[in-house]
Amino acid sequence: MIGVIGSISTDFVVTTNRVPNQGETVYGQAFETTFGGKGANQAVAAARLGGDVKMFGCVGSDQFGVETKQNLLDNGVNIDAVKVIEGTTTGSAHITVFEGDNAIVYVPGANQEVTVDYLQSVEADLLACDYFIIQNEIPMASIEYLIDLADAHDIKVTYDPAPFVKVKPAYLAKVAYLLPNESEAKELFGDEDVASLLAKYPKQLLITMGGDGVTYHDGQEVVAIDAIKGEVVDTTGAGDTFSGAFTVALSKGNDLSKAIAFASLAGSLSVRKFGAQGGMPTVAEMQADSHYNQDWIV
Ligand code: RIB
Ligand code: NA
Repeated sequence: MIGVIGSISTDFVVTTNRVPNQGETVYGQAFETTFGGKGANQAVAAARLGGDVKMFGCVGSDQFGVETKQNLLDNGVNIDAVKVIEGTTTGSAHITVFEGDNAIVYVPGANQEVTVDYLQSVEADLLACDYFIIQNEIPMASIEYLIDLADAHDIKVTYDPAPFVKVKPAYLAKVAYLLPNESEAKELFGDEDVASLLAKYPKQLLITMGGDGVTYHDGQEVVAIDAIKGEVVDTTGAGDTFSGAFTVALSKGNDLSKAIAFASLAGSLSVRKFGAQGGMPTVAEMQADSHYNQDWIV
């Protein structure tokens, strides 16, 4: 089982063809609310691709909490461990989409309540997992607790360190897979050139580069996997799709290079539709693509 521990949010998305300057008002083209939160996105990505996924997180006692939980259920994610926090608002992300790319203001709300106390209250469920997927929209003390728990119980952690916050190096070293993008890698490790950085963390550090693909060290050499090009409607959630798909592929028994290629295709397909979860593919949608590899285990 894959446990995704993280944020559950509603995304308030405006599309504009011009980003306002400070103090300025511009007319936008569209407004939509969609399901988001990096944790929930990763859970949905993994479940759509056939993973056995349990969500750990908190929502508020508002309508958004009801809807975000239902959305997880509708996507086949187990929500038995999701807690409703009375008197709190569900997490939200305020997203401006401009030329297919995005800028985000994140308000944690109930995601702030994913505390060590909460995690201890669901520890038996956590320990039933073989894999954890975590990211940075919950308190850092909780991330440290989860990494230690996983380390002590041989649970493999996929850690997507986004959005960037400082992380103690000892914790980075303990996770099975660390998936920063280029700018997060720079923030975490400084200006060291990518090849020598990757060589220090073979088969562990995967640097994602959006439309330029992903790079890692396979134990022998640095490998670059190209992204699959196509129409880009909305890149929101592409990284979450990658993390979810990558972990599912590993959980099904694919080796590292296959898991990365599988996740690359999933990430590439995800940007073709609007919304963080809008374009996340199912196995059937993956198989319908010409880049699908019949050797992948699904
Ligand atoms: O990674 C994308 C997600 O991050 C969005 O769905 C939004 O919730 C943001 O915080
Ligand atoms: Na999308």
